[in-house]
Amino acid sequence: MKTYFASCPKRSEEWLEEELKTLGAKNIEKKNGGVQFKAENEAALKILFETRLASRMYLLLDVYPIMNEKDVYGKVNAKWWHKVFDNNQTFKIQTLFDTDAHNFFKNSMHFSMMVKDAIVDQFRSQTGRRPNVDTSNPDISLLVRVEGRGREPGFNAKFYLDMTNVPLSDRGYRRGKHKAPLRENLAAILIHISKWDPKKAALSDMFCGSGTILIEAAMIQMSLPPTYIKIKKARRGRTTDFAFLNHKWFQDDKNLQKWVSDYFEKVTVMADKVKESKSQNLIGGDRDISFAIENIRAAGLEGHIKLIETDFKSFKPDVDTEGLVLITNPPYGERLEGGEELYYQIGEALKNNFKRSDAFVLTSDDEYRKKIFLKSTRKYPLFNGPIDCRLMHYEVN
Ligand SMILES: C[S@@+](CC[C@H](N)C(=O)[O-])C[C@H]1O[C@@H](n2cnc3c(N)ncnc32)[C@H](O)[C@@H]1O
Repeated sequence: MKTYFASCPKRSEEWLEEELKTLGAKNIEKKNGGVQFKAENEAALKILFETRLASRMYLLLDVYPIMNEKDVYGKVNAKWWHKVFDNNQTFKIQTLFDTDAHNFFKNSMHFSMMVKDAIVDQFRSQTGRRPNVDTSNPDISLLVRVEGRGREPGFNAKFYLDMTNVPLSDRGYRRGKHKAPLRENLAAILIHISKWDPKKAALSDMFCGSGTILIEAAMIQMSLPPTYIKIKKARRGRTTDFAFLNHKWFQDDKNLQKWVSDYFEKVTVMADKVKESKSQNLIGGDRDISFAIENIRAAGLEGHIKLIETDFKSFKPDVDTEGLVLITNPPYGERLEGGEELYYQIGEALKNNFKRSDAFVLTSDDEYRKKIFLKSTRKYPLFNGPIDCRLMHYEVN
């Protein structure tokens, strides 16, 4: 079994861990910013195609204990890199330091250059030729995470191959430029936390913006893997979305290639069938629904989400709200005018139009959330990009 690292937004590690368990990951270890796990090749690719919560996924190549910069060159140069990739493939290196490593090594660009020199020199001595660097669209993307060893002296330099190239959180349905869309995997994290059961309850978002929460919910309802748009593209032979397709370990494994090709076919058939069914229980509102309409169309999910263009105060889904799950991300930010009044009105709207619902509101401001005047059942700390947030859970009477 190989070792992998799946990254996720800060403070979401626990939810990713839960998801990866259900997807069959083994030896799971929660880390800062993600989850490390083991899996056989097929299981790992299934996780890559089906995780809704991860941002990216990496394959661990090696861990080198190092004391200083000199060690780095020596250790990296000793590896037979031509077994990892070919000298006609382009590559890129990114280095991330934890706090200890940052204090000691200071400059991550310099570290990456040193690793690059060691790899290039190794290729030259083994094959007589060197691969080129391409920082914008490389065939092979390497990540080096350098971490202190706690009480022991020195550092661990962990070398990873990026499996995804385009982040998993970028599903490929985003079109117009909405001002403040949620990352797709954060929307999926909110749904995961809400424990929404698509067979039992309706789901609604009264500030749906570009439709992210509703589109992610529709995929869950249809059991569509979140990579289905990329998979359809890959079947047409036009993709740089899945970096692992360029990896030597994958290109040398014909059985695995056959498994991937069968999986892609199965997902394409599923995605095409989605058009035949319609659902009635995903309902969104916003004062401008044009972004959501465009994105739902791009995702091929027309007919699965009902949209109402209205002010949130008059937004009322035309279903029984008992047990309905409301997940929403209201306007936020320093320049939000009338913020306190808006949040007061959100509380009123929940009491009047979402009776006996399970409401989840993502908020970034302590003062504003107090204005909702509802007793929360639980607060979940999360990060929306760099913004420290709370997902407030209200069981509305
Ligand atoms: C933070 S964004 C929501 C983003 C959304 N979660 C997404 O992923 O795109 C807030 C949304 O509230 C909408 N909005 C602001 N004031 C509103 C109002 N009074 N009634 C309805 N929608 C409103 C804006 O149009 C915007 O789309």
